[in-house]
Amino acid sequence: MFHPASFFKNNIKRIIPKSTYKKLKHSKKLHELKQYYKWQFSSFARFSAIPGGNEGLEQLTCQLQYHSHEIEKGLSHNNFRAGFGRRAITELTHSMRLWMQHNYPMEAFAMREALGVLKAYEDKHAKVGSALPLFYNDLIAGFEQEIRNADTDHCGASLFTRKPNDPHRTYKAVLEDRCSLRDYSEEPVNLDELIEAGQLAMRAPSVCNRQSVRLYISTNPDIIHKAMSIQAGMYGYKEPPAVMIITSTLTSFIDPTERNEPWVDGGLFSMALLGALEAQGLAACPLNAMFEQRRENAIRQALPIPPDEVLIMFVAVGHKPEKTLHPMSTRRDWHDIITILK
Ligand SMILES: Cc1cc2nc3c(=O)[nH]c(=O)nc-3n(C[C@H](O)[C@H](O)[C@H](O)COP(=O)(O)O)c2cc1C
Repeated sequence: MFHPASFFKNNIKRIIPKSTYKKLKHSKKLHELKQYYKWQFSSFARFSAIPGGNEGLEQLTCQLQYHSHEIEKGLSHNNFRAGFGRRAITELTHSMRLWMQHNYPMEAFAMREALGVLKAYEDKHAKVGSALPLFYNDLIAGFEQEIRNADTDHCGASLFTRKPNDPHRTYKAVLEDRCSLRDYSEEPVNLDELIEAGQLAMRAPSVCNRQSVRLYISTNPDIIHKAMSIQAGMYGYKEPPAVMIITSTLTSFIDPTERNEPWVDGGLFSMALLGALEAQGLAACPLNAMFEQRRENAIRQALPIPPDEVLIMFVAVGHKPEKTLHPMSTRRDWHDIITILK
């Protein structure tokens, strides 16, 4: 059967020089890439939880989780700052009101967490003998009863207590034991330990084994200070003894369909790295590197990260302290996450 498209393609290929044909093919791929980004833009705009937009159950769940976590983090500071969280509580209670307006279920995970974290906030102030801040009662108006009855077993801060490291732990135990720790002991971190963890993380799979990930490691206080002050996600904590920065080079990707692959490979590597650090008995906290333009430029000015590498994640690393608080970060019920396809 006659196919006009392949007839045209084959003849073009015969007539024009090879290099021109390659250039044409390249422009076609760039056009495809643009289309993919357009499509990605519209699905992100449509489904994401950007406030003021979609108020679906899952989007409001995200907003509740986001602000509950902010408060949980504040409750986990070893140097508790009474009266903290005006902005987070304002945002959280605003999302709770939207939730009520939509008649979403009160027993849903995110709502239970929001109420629980506010109860933990009240309990913590009572425990340290501080009055609740003046803004608090106005913000929670209408939720007093629900907060009073909320369950705090799975919300707020949890106490981490160091145990001797067992180098023979199973993978399951490493996953279960790992949690993000933001306070570290005074003991300096040895570069060799970090390189060893990086090497172990290289066991992570990558698309066609192309190994796009690059890892930057530093125990230099000046570099740590630059990285941590621009990243700013551990504000209020002492700077860690070491920092790791995971990137992924775009030079490893060959087709527009792979445009998100740097973050897939980078994510797999990052989790393997967190597991490796935990297995070595080190404490770590993954840190966001999805920056707005200002911080992206600042980090690239401060550190020698080549422009072809996209930022994946920062990791603060240190030795485990004897005791420290950390956010409970309770996981959702597996039924919320796992779907069996029959
Ligand atoms: C991509 C990513 C970015 C994160 N960014 C931050 C951050 O900027 N600051 C922070 O304190 N924690 C950050 N975290 C840690 C999360 O808060 C933490 O992983 C989550 O609450 C689950 O708790 P767990 O790690 O203790 O299991 C980040 C985690 C990930 C995976």
